[in-house]
Amino acid sequence: MSNHDQKRLLLIGGGSGIGHAIARAALERGDQPIIGARDPERTAAALPAALHDVPLVHADLADEDSVAALAQEGPFDAVVSLAAASANGPIATLDRAAVHAAFDAKVAGPMLLAKHLAGSMRPGGVFVFFSGVAAWKPAPGLSAMATVNGAVAFMAEALAVELAPVRAVAVSPGIVDSGLWDFMGDDGKRDFFAATAAANPARRVGAPADIAGAVLFAVDNTFVTGTTLQVDGGGRLA
Ligand SMILES: NC(=O)c1ccc[n+]([C@@H]2O[C@H](COP(=O)([O-])OP(=O)(O)OC[C@H]3O[C@@H](n4cnc5c(N)ncnc54)[C@H](OP(=O)(O)O)[C@@H]3O)[C@@H](O)[C@H]2O)c1
Repeated sequence: MSNHDQKRLLLIGGGSGIGHAIARAALERGDQPIIGARDPERTAAALPAALHDVPLVHADLADEDSVAALAQEGPFDAVVSLAAASANGPIATLDRAAVHAAFDAKVAGPMLLAKHLAGSMRPGGVFVFFSGVAAWKPAPGLSAMATVNGAVAFMAEALAVELAPVRAVAVSPGIVDSGLWDFMGDDGKRDFFAATAAANPARRVGAPADIAGAVLFAVDNTFVTGTTLQVDGGGRLA
């Protein structure tokens, strides 16, 4: 691949789980990933060996100054926002601050990325926002995240129109073994994944590489904009 074809991908919240898989897939095909993290030093220390040469920049989607400063790292072919903050639990115990943090990470923060980085996008460039299957598969205790993830899908449609010809795409993962579920412990995770796989039409949980492939598809296919790529094993239908 010539330098001209090399794509620059800014991965906000890319210092863990699915972000690692996107960075690895980008490097493997000769692209240049850059990871944006709230704590670049801590994130660098946790990078797998294959990603040791990936540049890290400070990025906190709850801090507009840090978002604005990212323009110095451009131009970009893709700005991918993986950031998430959890606000799970029954409505009766809802924590207002947690709901705000969840919207900051997945909705307000990504809108600030659009505000400050749309002018740094190369022709054909794309913003990729992370939604999630909870939006299409609501369940008790997941109402806040279902709503946040649903907002991400509509944000991709709205920004595709407003930022055109810069593109905007949402990716909605199903349950993915990215490390996110490790808090359940080995037994809890095994049971959760077995139940998820049994219910999913794909009959398995996702791998981070499944999601990385969808992100690179969104980066490459310049006729894809204003839509949500459902990479959930059909879990929203289960
Ligand atoms: N894994 C799944 O099963 C699944 C299912 C549905 C949707 N998703 C979505 O897929 C995306 C990636 O998930 P994952 O499994 O890779 O989870 P993850 O490892 O928790 O990744 C989330 C990343 O976001 C970063 N982050 C959080 N708040 C931020 C902020 N304000 N500014 C910048 N970065 C911030 C975190 O970094 P810190 O180290 O700074 O905390 C972390 O690196 C998320 O949006 C998630 O909701 C995942």
